[in-house]
Amino acid sequence: MKVTFNPPGRCPQADSRPPKADSQLSANAWAEKRANGRRLISFGNMSVTMSAQSHLEAIRSVRTRIYEVARHTPLAKAEAALAQIADSDVCLKQELFQRTGSFKIRGAYNKLCRLEPSLARKGIVAASAGNHAQGVACTTRVLGYPSYIFMPETTPLAKVEATRHYGAEVMLHGNTFEAALEKAHEFQEKSRMTFVHGYDDWDIIHGTGTIGFEIVEDLPEVEVIVCPVGGGGLISGVAIAAKELKPSVKIIGIQAESAPAAFESFRARRAVERIAGHTIAEGIAVSRPGKINLEIMLERVDDIILVSDHEIADGIVHLLERSKIVAEGAGAASVAALLANKVPAARGKKVVAILSGGNIDLHTLSTILTRSQAKMGRFLQFSVDVFDAPGNLKKLVDEVSAMKANIIEVIHTRTAPDLPLGYVKIDIIAETRNREHAYDILEDLRNLGYKPEASM
Ligand SMILES: Cc1ncc(COP(=O)(O)O)c(C=O)c1O
Repeated sequence: MKVTFNPPGRCPQADSRPPKADSQLSANAWAEKRANGRRLISFGNMSVTMSAQSHLEAIRSVRTRIYEVARHTPLAKAEAALAQIADSDVCLKQELFQRTGSFKIRGAYNKLCRLEPSLARKGIVAASAGNHAQGVACTTRVLGYPSYIFMPETTPLAKVEATRHYGAEVMLHGNTFEAALEKAHEFQEKSRMTFVHGYDDWDIIHGTGTIGFEIVEDLPEVEVIVCPVGGGGLISGVAIAAKELKPSVKIIGIQAESAPAAFESFRARRAVERIAGHTIAEGIAVSRPGKINLEIMLERVDDIILVSDHEIADGIVHLLERSKIVAEGAGAASVAALLANKVPAARGKKVVAILSGGNIDLHTLSTILTRSQAKMGRFLQFSVDVFDAPGNLKKLVDEVSAMKANIIEVIHTRTAPDLPLGYVKIDIIAETRNREHAYDILEDLRNLGYKPEASM
């Protein structure tokens, strides 16, 4: 694999090229340096090797320009419940307050600043499940380049619209990120524009590395960083910076159960393809980790752990209810793993959970919230057969209301085939305080002579 360094583009003051002496070392020279006792990471079979220190320097240099467009995001203590459940001292790196709503602008801006402007002006092509699209689209708008972005047809509308809003031309294709990626490559070959990969690219990795830098800078005592993983761009940058600045820090990746390619590859210590299934964390639904990213993960990541969609939904609800933060599925994966007590390395430690994005579709959010309320017993749905006489519907509604349930829906049916003659079926959905309250209401109704059938 060849690492190429492009001449800096619009931001010549900050060249993130590593010192030549290290970036162009041959494998033999690398071995020699290692023998001399200097710590280097080879990143597998790359023919050109940079030292970890050089990568850190590259990331340090990105920091001189990244804050022209990106924010140094807050690192805030998580509320006590999360710390208690996870049995650790947890801080949240709130990258969902980043410009464009996710960390992606860090890599995109670094990449585009380093392109030759005359080339970039012809157009930038990208493929994305949503957030890289917004990072690229926002950056191309800032730098004045046209952009063409391919997204899966399943991409949440909010992400598609936001990308268009930044002025990018969006093409929807296929049901997976990989299908959109293939189409983007075809388009790029025909158009000869510049393709910007979302993770398998050193400039992108150096851009995301600034997050690792900020974490260690803001919390030098950090012991564990928990980070969502898709193709691996985020975690590779974070791992390089954080481990170089603080070698003892542990880096734990989190993937969705239905898209476990990085998890499987990490276990097998080679690239494994797993077609990504449906998950509410579409930002990390990637079928194969990036080539460079896997090499870095094998070198620098301590573990990768899977979380289910239910756990991710619990993470989203927890952040909303306790911290008043709206995270998207991928963005909440780290908290989901901590809440589910799936990160043994975090116990008793100072932990940073990266909240990588907040671009959640309102429809998805509302479904998650409704289901979660139902799970907590905050909704009671039941039906009763009532004798069909004037006043009986009102009587039932009054009785349920007197039990302090807030009725939100009533359906009155005369035509149900299983109804005894002379009866009507009344379905009621009501808000309750909790599961005990819902059980009490059912019990009270039975005591009043009703036979409620509940689904809880
Ligand atoms: C919100 C969010 N978190 C995490 C990730 C994972 O990043 P990576 O593919 O670099 O591993 C993504 C990727 O798009 C994302 O959008």
